[in-house]
Amino acid sequence: MNIESLRKEYKRGELSDNSLEQDPMSLFNKWFEQAMHADIIDVNAVTLGTSSSAGKPSLRTVLLKKFDTKGFTFFTNYNSRKGKELTENPFASMLIFWKELERQIRIEGKVEKGTSLESDSYFNSRSLESRISGAVSPQSEKVPSRRYLEEKWVKYLKEVGETGVKRPDNWGAFRLIPERIEFWQGRPNRLHDRILYSLEDNVWQISRLAP
Ligand SMILES: Cc1cc2nc3c(=O)[nH]c(=O)nc-3n(C[C@H](O)[C@H](O)[C@H](O)COP(=O)(O)O)c2cc1C
Repeated sequence: MNIESLRKEYKRGELSDNSLEQDPMSLFNKWFEQAMHADIIDVNAVTLGTSSSAGKPSLRTVLLKKFDTKGFTFFTNYNSRKGKELTENPFASMLIFWKELERQIRIEGKVEKGTSLESDSYFNSRSLESRISGAVSPQSEKVPSRRYLEEKWVKYLKEVGETGVKRPDNWGAFRLIPERIEFWQGRPNRLHDRILYSLEDNVWQISRLAP
């Protein structure tokens, strides 16, 4: 199969200097609202990049569950591969590609664990079935079979009952506190718009980058 000739022109929008906000979270909020109205499947799915202490990177998708001036929050198992990598090396990156809008956002910074309160609050908002899966799945570990997991699931429910499903200590929030956020808008002729917000001495600096 020859995929060399696959190409398309990007022409749905522009990121002009006068459409920028002073801080990147306001622009992120504006873009997210537009994405919410653009019929995007899993609009809050982001690619999360972590790296081991030996500098080996890895990526996976997680769902962004909250964003505010404190950062970008997602939930996971702290003992998973990503959880362990983030404990060894707290620097991480996130990538969003909304192809329907021809937009990409790159976020880089340091990650911290969320509070038990916010982890409990989100865990308890999930369905009983997902809470059980969160509690019984040793995320990222090798398991003997699918059946092993399904049996563990049923056994756990029998043991604790519907009201006894609690958030395990090793499951909760991580927040990526941004130091760099880059907004990319596809433009015709590959002359795309790239706007970088970088935090310098606690002030967001805005630059335009070459595509
Ligand atoms: C659309 C989508 C959403 C996902 N959301 C999450 C999530 O919010 N949290 C999570 O731990 N894993 C989520 N996953 C699963 C992860 O991609 C990954 O398989 C899992 O977290 C284990 O990654 P790790 O072994 O690198 O730690 C999601 C996967 C997909 C495809």
